[in-house]
Amino acid sequence: MGKTSLSALIINKLSKIGSVLAIDADPDSNLPQALGVTVQKTIGRVRESIINAPARSKAAMSKETFATLALHEVIEEFPKFDVVVMGHSEGGGCYCFLNSIIRQLIDFRANSYDFTVIDCHAGLEHLSRRTTKGVDVLIAVTEATKNGILTAKRVIELSKELSIDIGTTMVVANKVSPALRSSLDRTVEENGLTIDAYLPFDEDMARLSLFGKPVVSLSGDSPLIAAVDRVCERILEDCGITGSELSMSRIQ
Ligand SMILES: Nc1ncnc2c1ncn2[C@@H]1O[C@H](COP(=O)(O)OP(=O)(O)OP(=O)(O)O)[C@@H](O)[C@H]1O
Ligand SMILES: [Mg+2]
Repeated sequence: MGKTSLSALIINKLSKIGSVLAIDADPDSNLPQALGVTVQKTIGRVRESIINAPARSKAAMSKETFATLALHEVIEEFPKFDVVVMGHSEGGGCYCFLNSIIRQLIDFRANSYDFTVIDCHAGLEHLSRRTTKGVDVLIAVTEATKNGILTAKRVIELSKELSIDIGTTMVVANKVSPALRSSLDRTVEENGLTIDAYLPFDEDMARLSLFGKPVVSLSGDSPLIAAVDRVCERILEDCGITGSELSMSRIQ
C-alpha cells in the first residue's frame, strides 16, 4: 500500500521541523530500512535479553518490571530522529505484550517529542485499548484497488470504535495515475470515503526499492515528495502547529 514509505517520508519531513519519535509497530515492517538506519534493539529482543539475563529468573521478572525496563531500553537515537521497533514475538507467541509496550511508550515517552509517527498495519492493535494520549491524525493508505479501499474503510471504522480520541482521519491514495483518479474517486465515494491526498507512482521510488535503498534518499524535487509535503502541511494544520511555534518552543 505504501504505509512504511509514507511514514518514512513524513518522518523525514517532520524531522526538519521538530523532534520525532518514529515507532515501527508492524512486526513485519521495515521502517528503519526505509529511513536508512540500522536498529539493533527491538522490543521483542530487549524482552528476550531481560528475561534471559543470568541474574534473573523468568519467574522473578514481573511483566510490570520488564515494562519499566523496556521503556528505557528500546529507544534508539539517531541524529535526525529516534526510533523504536516492535520486532517479533519470540516463539511465534502473542503480540499483546509487545503491543502493550508500544502503548506505554506512547503514554509515557511521546510527550518528550514534537511528533510521534507510528507505522502500523490495519489492525491498530497497540491503539486498541485506552491510552492516556489520543491520536492527532490517523492516515489510512490505499492503492487504487478494491481491496485497498475496503481495508481503508475497515481501518476508519475500527478507529471509530477505539476508546481514544482521534483528531483527524485522512485517506491517502498511493501510486495513483491521473487517468485512474475519477474512477477511484467514484469507487471510494461508493464506500462512504473521500480521498484527502493522492500520491503519484514514482519511478525513482520503485528503483530505490529495487536496489534496497532507503526511501528517504528520494530526490527533493520528485512529485512524490511534493505530494507528501502537502500531506505534512495538512498534518501540521490539523495539529494546530506552525513551524515558527515549534522553533520557538525548542529555543525556550
Ligand atoms: N508512490 C510510490 N511509487 C512507487 N513505488 C512505491 C510508492 N509507494 C510505495 N512504493 C513501493 O511499494 C512497495 C510497498 O510499499 P511499502 O513498504 O511502503 O508498503 P506497506 O503498506 O508498508 O507494505 P506492508 O503491508 O508490507 O507493510 C515498496 O517497494 C515501495 O518502495
Ligand atoms: Mg510496511
